[in-house]
Amino acid sequence: MIAVEHILVTGGAGFIGSNFVHHLVGHTEARVTVLDKLTYAATRESLTGLPSDRVELVVGDIADAGVVDPLVDRVDAVVHYAAESHNDNSLADPAPFVQTNIVGTFTLLEAVRRSGVRFHHVSTDEVYGDLPLVTDEVPAKRFTEDTPYRPSSPYSATKAGSDHLVRAWVRSFGVRATISNCSNNYGPWQHVEKFIPRQITEVIEGRRPRVYGDGRNVRDWIHTDDHSAAVLAILQRGRIGETYLIGADGERSNLEVVRAILRHFGRDPEDPAEIEFVADRAGHDRRYAIESGKLRAELGWTPRFADFESGLADTIAWYQAHEDWWRPAKADTEASYAAKGQ
Ligand code: NAD
Ligand code: TYD
Repeated sequence: MIAVEHILVTGGAGFIGSNFVHHLVGHTEARVTVLDKLTYAATRESLTGLPSDRVELVVGDIADAGVVDPLVDRVDAVVHYAAESHNDNSLADPAPFVQTNIVGTFTLLEAVRRSGVRFHHVSTDEVYGDLPLVTDEVPAKRFTEDTPYRPSSPYSATKAGSDHLVRAWVRSFGVRATISNCSNNYGPWQHVEKFIPRQITEVIEGRRPRVYGDGRNVRDWIHTDDHSAAVLAILQRGRIGETYLIGADGERSNLEVVRAILRHFGRDPEDPAEIEFVADRAGHDRRYAIESGKLRAELGWTPRFADFESGLADTIAWYQAHEDWWRPAKADTEASYAAKGQ
């Protein structure tokens, strides 16, 4: 187990990063420095309620070595969440994805190469591309750590590029790094551009959920706090150079998720008029599914939110209680979707 007295969390004012900072403060004695550029996806509020003697926010860019180098020199470990994270945005404008996800990760890797600091790289299962939908003829294959990379979108291609950089820096320069590839997260502080918060807030606003294409695409949902627990276990006990897949056996089609949200709000989930089918996403991945046996067997991790419907109910309650937080981003987000027919 490595000592984690002072950790630099990049992207710690975004959705998953801020949940990780809360998890760290609750489950360890570590001090945390957050490095975040505060893009549209971040909010300072996501870090409220944390002890100021343990958590500090530094506003800056991970692609700026002048900012990164002195911060890395102060810490025992870097946990790297910062990214441009939304597939739809990467189709509209890939440039910031290349800059942050690839050049930003390169900048951090050069800093830990120089300083010898432990590095954990947070990535996505989307680097593996997609799987076919399961039918009587098509068996239910899942991604493993050995699945070949086959990213589909500018987002997943830049995350794949960043994973390759990490592996090269481990092998060529002896950087002490681990990688995790996680499935789709849900939970508090997720931006309303993403699927689950978008649908919850659409229903709260009295509109219908918006489903891309035929809605049969499958995602493998995990509560973000289970993701945090897995990343902490890998940071403390994971083997250097290894990759761990993180998933909670939460496969649901988009239609199933939307129907669960409608049911929660007392609307008729079987009434087709309750759902608005909108333009599909270009190159839309069909199915993701994670086999997380390595993480479970080696590090003893199991998800706490094993029941997706109850985790979803907690998340809906959170969005109902935090309208002040999501409402400022909602109108602009919907205007930009409307411009694309979504
Ligand atoms: P997010 O968009 O909510 O947050 C990203 C954070 O990174 C924001 O706070 C943003 O301000 C910050 N950031 C962006 N560019 C930066 C830069 N150049 N310098 C410093 N900070 C910068 O994203 P998220 O959903 O919380 O995802 C976090 C990480 O987890 C990403 O690496 C993503 O690829 C990965 N991931 C996400 C999911 C998911 O379901 N959302 C699943 C698996 C892995
Ligand atoms: P998203 O939250 O963007 O995550 P990802 O692209 O990383 O999987 O989307 C999850 C799924 O929901 C994906 O299949 C696209 C679909 N989707 C909709 O059907 N409607 C929407 O309004 C959005 C944002 C996504």
